[in-house]
Amino acid sequence: MRLIRAKDYAELSARAADIIAAQIILKPDCVLGLATGSSPVGTYQELIRKYEAGALDFSRVHTVNLDEYEGLDPKHEQSYARFMRENLFDHVNIPPESTNVPSGLSTDAGAAECARYDALIASFGGIDLQLLGLGPNGHIGFNEPDDHFPLGTHRVALTESTIQANKRFFEREEDVPRFAYTMGVRDIMQAKRVLMVVNGEAKAETVKKAFFGPVTPCVPASILQLHPDFTLVADEAALSRC
Ligand code: F6R
Repeated sequence: MRLIRAKDYAELSARAADIIAAQIILKPDCVLGLATGSSPVGTYQELIRKYEAGALDFSRVHTVNLDEYEGLDPKHEQSYARFMRENLFDHVNIPPESTNVPSGLSTDAGAAECARYDALIASFGGIDLQLLGLGPNGHIGFNEPDDHFPLGTHRVALTESTIQANKRFFEREEDVPRFAYTMGVRDIMQAKRVLMVVNGEAKAETVKKAFFGPVTPCVPASILQLHPDFTLVADEAALSRC
């Protein structure tokens, strides 16, 4: 595990964007695994800035996003598909057909969609660099604390902690979907490189448990301690308990 300590969110975002930019420069047709949520927004802004400055070309990049809420149309304000368009895809020269987010609209509880998504990742030859945020309960993607590590893309019931954490994006708590589709831990662990961005005091205890405690499915992110090329970029507040 490589740890990059940033002074604050701005520095964290710049450092993470540098790593993603290096990946794109070294392999222009790379496959990026991407995350939504608050943590990577600054990283995406930095990537857009580099693109606008002429330093990055996304034309041959493919992306696969980690997850999507069940039941949300890609146009829905809170869908992760829309989040990605608004925060990154619409601002760089990535062809829309090269971007992938699981569909939240399956009618068979996700069975076909989950299989399709894993086959899609395999057809790319895996993910070159996977960007992650850290859930307050230690989740990665929507792999929630459990007694085992889920392997491939699957449907998941969101825990109360995740519903509480994500209600800030919805008008009412009842509007937060209760299920989602997410890449599994195997999908994430098979990425050649993994990069996590974490900021803020509120995640400090989780960072300590995940990266300075035992590897356990009760804290899904802890498995990243076993990844051969894992970089954690965190600000001082997130590292304050370590
Ligand atoms: C998002 C995702 C989640 C978030 C995590 C942290 O695609 O998979 O695991 O990364 O919930 O969310 P924020 O960054 O909003 O604190």
